[in-house]
Formats: sequence, structure tokens, C-alpha cells
Amino acid sequence: MHTTQLPDDALNHKAAHLIKNELLLFLKTHPTSVELGTKSREHFLYGVPMHWMNDWGTPCPLFVRQAQGAHFTCADNISYVDFCLGDTGAMFGHSPEPVARTLEQQARRGYTTMLPDMLAPQVGAALAEQFGMPCWQITTTATDANRFVLRWARAVTGRQKLLVFDGCYHGTVDDTMVDVEANRTVSRASLLGQNVDLGQYTVAVDFNDLAAVERELASGDYACLLTEPALTNCGMVPALPGFISSLRSLTQRYGTLLILDETHTISSGRGGWAKNHEVKPDFIVVGKPIAGGLPAAAYGFSGDMAAKMQAAKDLAPAGHSGIGTTLSGNMMTLAAIHATLTEVATPAAYSDMFKLADKLEDGLNIQLKRHGLPWCITRIGARIELQFCKSSPLNAREARATQNEVIENAIHLFLLNRGVLLTPFHNMMLVCPATSEDDINRLLVVFGECLDQLV
Ligand SMILES: Cc1ncc(COP(=O)(O)O)c(C=O)c1O
Repeated sequence: MHTTQLPDDALNHKAAHLIKNELLLFLKTHPTSVELGTKSREHFLYGVPMHWMNDWGTPCPLFVRQAQGAHFTCADNISYVDFCLGDTGAMFGHSPEPVARTLEQQARRGYTTMLPDMLAPQVGAALAEQFGMPCWQITTTATDANRFVLRWARAVTGRQKLLVFDGCYHGTVDDTMVDVEANRTVSRASLLGQNVDLGQYTVAVDFNDLAAVERELASGDYACLLTEPALTNCGMVPALPGFISSLRSLTQRYGTLLILDETHTISSGRGGWAKNHEVKPDFIVVGKPIAGGLPAAAYGFSGDMAAKMQAAKDLAPAGHSGIGTTLSGNMMTLAAIHATLTEVATPAAYSDMFKLADKLEDGLNIQLKRHGLPWCITRIGARIELQFCKSSPLNAREARATQNEVIENAIHLFLLNRGVLLTPFHNMMLVCPATSEDDINRLLVVFGECLDQLV
């Protein structure tokens, strides 16, 4: 076990006390958000467009007035440095200029037709150039992209089963919403309205456990193995050196397709983790920021896979494939993807992001050391995670054992009340091309003040 004991009771006690004060401060300084929250309840469940927007740990949702670059302003006209960046959707900054300009022009040329826009060949070429996969399909969300790739994988291989890692999240794809209980894969207990035993066709094993992967794949039953190159949704669990390339070899050996979900690991470098580490999966899924924050995602595959997919489709009876949605790949989305990939997600943008992420990582480590806290920073390019353990966890079990909601909430609320937004539900900080040294310094100062109160 790489992890250490959670911080002691005194720390938890101080964190709980801090939360009480910070909740009161939030209510005092955000009267407009409080009012909007009350009004929204008249017509929205929990007063928010999506129910989980109510789960941020604030006493009412924080309503946004406008967002630009690395900053946003709330309904009460308070300005924030945004290190959540829509949990990657705005990884290239809010309303990047080239995307805003393109959308203004496209808005006069049409939004959606169910026909391919003339820009389609250029969008395909931009995806291929950036992510190193020759063939593509567009979806509206990364959830959809994962869901559709699973369909293709089953259609192409004629196999039924799916292998994932414990602690995975690939959007609200039912097949992947599983937990491991007493060595059995079961439907996640928190799922609402699920009436299927998801463990019937999905098996989850520990990340970084090659032997467990091979034990499963050897059955020859698995259509595909779906994973992120690092788990990023249960804290952050990086792959051990060689783990992902070994997955590539194992999947090839047993006739299983390897799907890499790069929705979050786009942060690791231009073109994503696989391209930068020379691993060639059968499918890659890219989502969230590829249209500068507009809903869009895509999945890429080889020419050989494209031929197999076409053969599967041609062999199937005529009718709906169960793959695709009406608004996906519309004119507006294609224009936004093209502008983002060619003008925003540039080598220079990544280089700026990494320089500032270096500064953030160093600064956080200095603060942890100064306060004698046995916590660590796990990083994937521009994505930085603070974890309450000595070194990065090896798998989701270790990651879960290090989580501490009270301390996490205290840090998030303290920072929020001082104009710094972290990603909710864990401690993720994302740097975008518009983030400045001042923004990083602001986070570091406020984080230091927070630790002064906690320790
Ligand atoms: C790794 C990964 N894949 C897919 C998704 C789904 O993205 P979306 O919610 O945009 O469909 C997420 C969302 O957080 C994710 O973290």
C-alpha cells in the first residue's frame, strides 16, 4: 500500500469548524445566488438545470454571470480564478477567441441540418492530425462516444463482455457503472432506476494489476477493454510505467479491442496520452474540450477497424444501428471543433499550460512541506490533483482510502470564498492557456492561508 494514514482527528475537527464559518460567509457574500437558487426551485429539480449541480458543497448553487479565459464572475459580481474549467470542457479557457469568432460567423450560416457540412473533410483531417487516428465519428458527448464505441466493439468482435477498471468513470454509460463487492462486479448501488444486473457482462478489476487483466482476457469472452490512460475520476491513479503498453499487448494476444478514453487525459499533451506515449489503441475517445466547451466529442480508429465496422454494418439488417443522435456532428459543432483544433489547442498553448502547471505543482508541494502534511500532488500534464496520501495511489481502492470529504470540503469552500474555484468531488486543478502567473500565485497564497487554519 502506497498510501498513508488519513490526517488525524484534530485536522478533521478543525476542518469541520472551518466549514461552518465558510458556509456562513458564503451565504453573506452571495445574496443573489441565494435568491436565484430559491427562484430556480420553482421549476428545476433542486433548483438547478442538472440535479448534481446542487452537490458542490456550497449552501446554494453558485450562479454564473459570465466566463472568459481563466476567470468567471458570479451572479453577485465576485470574480473567480477558475481551476475547474468545467471539469475539462473549458480546458482551453472560457470562450476562446477563435471559437467565439467562428461561432459568430457560423450562427449566420445555420446550426443543424442532419447533413454533413462542407467543412467535414477539414474537421476529419484536423482530428487525424491532432490525435494520430485516421478515421473518425462525431458525437455530442464523451458519454455517447464511449457508449457507441462499446456497440461497435461488440459488433466487430461478436463478443459480449466488457473489461473495465474498478473506480472507472466514462460518463453515464450504463455498462461501466459498476463497483466491485466481495470480488464480484455489481451495478453501482447509487444508480437510479437501473433494472439490469450490470455485472452480467461487465467485469471490473484493479488498475495496475496486469495479472488480473490477463486472467480475465484469457477466457476469450471480452469484446473490449475500456480504460483511461490514468484513472482521473477517483482522485487520480496514474498507470505504472509500461502498464498501458502491456494492456495493448495483452488485448492483442487475446483478440480483445483496446479503447482508450482520453476525455480527461487530453491534458497530458497535444494529441492526448496515447499519441505522446506511442501506444496505438483500437479506438480513442476524445471529448469535452475539443469544441472549445461546446457539447462535442469524437471517437477515432484505424483504417482496418473502419473496414471491420463497415462490414458489421453492411451485414446487419436494415434499420437503426443504435449508434448516433440527431444533433451530433451538426454545422455549429463542426465549426467549433475545427477552430479549437487548428487555432486553440496548439503546441504553443500546451507549452504555456505546462509551464504554469510546473509552477503550480512546485508551489503546492512547497505549501505541503511547510505545513508538514504527508500529502502528494499527482499530475498529468496540465491536470493536477492534490491527494491526501504520501504518494499516488496504485488503484481505486487505495485512492478511496485516502479520500476525506470533510477536509476536501473545507479546502474547496475556503478557496471559493476567496475567489479560487477547484473541481468539485475531488481536488483537481486544471491550467488553461489563459491562466496567468498571478492566477497561480493567488491559488497558492489562498491555499497556504487555508492550511494555516487547518494545521
Ligand atoms: C474519462 C471520462 N470519460 C467520459 C466522460 C463523459 O463526459 P460527458 O459528461 O461530457 O459525456 C467523463 C466525464 O467526466 C470522463 O471523465
